[in-house]
Amino acid sequence: MTSSAGLLDIGHLGSVIFSMALADFIQQLDELAAEAVTAFDGASNADELEAARVEFVGAKSGRLKAAQKGMGSVDKDDRKAAGIQLNDVKTKVEAALQAATERLAAGRSSGKKQSTEIFDPTLPGKRPRLGHLHPITQTIEELKDIMGRLGFSVAEGPEIEDERHNFEALNIPSDHPARDPLENFYIAAAEKSQGKPLLLRSQTSTVQIRVMEKTPPPVRIISLGRVYRPDTADATHYPMFHQMEGLLIDRQVTMADLKSVLRLFATSYLGHDVHIRFRPSFFPFTEPSVEADMSWGDDWIEFGGAGMVDPNVLRAVGYDPEEVTGFAFGLGIERLCMRRHGVTDIREFYKNDVRFLHQF
Ligand code: PHE
Repeated sequence: MTSSAGLLDIGHLGSVIFSMALADFIQQLDELAAEAVTAFDGASNADELEAARVEFVGAKSGRLKAAQKGMGSVDKDDRKAAGIQLNDVKTKVEAALQAATERLAAGRSSGKKQSTEIFDPTLPGKRPRLGHLHPITQTIEELKDIMGRLGFSVAEGPEIEDERHNFEALNIPSDHPARDPLENFYIAAAEKSQGKPLLLRSQTSTVQIRVMEKTPPPVRIISLGRVYRPDTADATHYPMFHQMEGLLIDRQVTMADLKSVLRLFATSYLGHDVHIRFRPSFFPFTEPSVEADMSWGDDWIEFGGAGMVDPNVLRAVGYDPEEVTGFAFGLGIERLCMRRHGVTDIREFYKNDVRFLHQF
């Protein structure tokens, strides 16, 4: 390719034009590109950017358009190379315009600032802090799992109960001290609006009655949920806590079955071999009744109440005590969770302090 700048030439349309060297054309293009990029980068608002856009890439009289027209004055032999160069510059200028448009849309006013923001994709990410289930909910899920493997299915009952399910069908007579209004959360307006007294259930034994009322034997259920008693909160008491009730009714069920179910359960939950000890006790709805203890190192700790379902309870739900027998137990869920995790104050569960909850 020879430089033919300054030579008179006949263009393809027959007009006489002044021919330009390719090198000059390229240089002009490069300058134009540099000026355009500077203008776009420097635009600090939409108006400035629009003015720069019109100046450089305006369809009618933009400088790129003019350069394109100027291609005609490049030597014929060099036009192909000039065209390639022009396209490169166009792409570059359009990219700078696009970047400036995005920058302004994102609310950044200067392209210069951007270059100091270094994005290093190799840096480790920030781990998002995920929540988890409350420790008591976790315990409930685990207890359901263990008892499920022992063949017990889960039953539910309401937290607002009537006296039949909380007391009467459970063989608790009306003069029994457990029915004292001061020992229970009675709902003051219930008697007027519902025609009978209602209370927050004080035990999950209510669910024994609800299940037996609508299911013929055999029965093999657990029920886990909240119970309410007007106790003053201290390290071992809270006016609301959770119980797991168990009920098994079948032919020829004995205390030995009760003991082995409790032993298998405690061994699974605590992860080591646990022994169960029965101490005589009294509950109106079981006969005989026991306090069950489990071994804890060289000690015994109280585990919950249990016993053989009282024939009066079986009769109250229409079962025949000559046909079937069964056992029931009621365990405090907080107490189990506290033992396993070394928690010494039940109130911790209900303060909602994430520093405590986060440990589970
Ligand atoms: N309901 C009893 C309580 O809350 C526990 C219990 C349940 C005892 C089942 C015996 C049988 O103390």
